[in-house]
Amino acid sequence: MVTWEELEGQCQQCKNCPLAETRTHVVFGVGSRQADVLFIGEGPGEQEDLQGEPFVGPAGKLLDLMLSVIDLDRSNVYIANIVKCRPPRNRDPLHTEQDACIGYLRAQTALLRPKIIVCLGRIAAMRIIDKDFRITRQHGQWFDRAGVQITAIYHPSALLRDPEKRPETFVDLKGLQEKIRQLCPDTFLPHPW
Ligand code: URA
Repeated sequence: MVTWEELEGQCQQCKNCPLAETRTHVVFGVGSRQADVLFIGEGPGEQEDLQGEPFVGPAGKLLDLMLSVIDLDRSNVYIANIVKCRPPRNRDPLHTEQDACIGYLRAQTALLRPKIIVCLGRIAAMRIIDKDFRITRQHGQWFDRAGVQITAIYHPSALLRDPEKRPETFVDLKGLQEKIRQLCPDTFLPHPW
């Protein structure tokens, strides 16, 4: 199996799909490589492309707030995307682009071995949980895939567009917090340094 460093090196050089031609930075992932909880977004936006880090634009600010509501932050979870390069004008990543990129996420998941996966939004949920996933009906539900507990919540961009979805997301986040308490309570422990 590759190491994190080898995988990130390969990903940084990637030319598997046309998004490589328009990217500023590859956005590999951020957070703890020891985390039990993996968040999966869709793909980098403008700010992420410029800075090389997931969720640093407006949606990222809201994601940080969502994490803080349940005593999490970027140091005790891992955050990655389905595609590592920005789709032009933030359009949905094409299936061909997802197919070209998904191997990196699979390898990240194999290295991390998370107990819990949280899909952020419908694109990630349709790729990871079920191609027919309906985010409006199925957000907050839990699925067992080979012993890994997987759920999907609304994407923070959707919550920025439609604040009326925020109360449902609060309930989903409390469900996530409870799942973490059951399966990996050390996630919440403060770091010793
Ligand atoms: N939206 C995503 O899905 N991922 C990011 O990294 C930023 C915005």
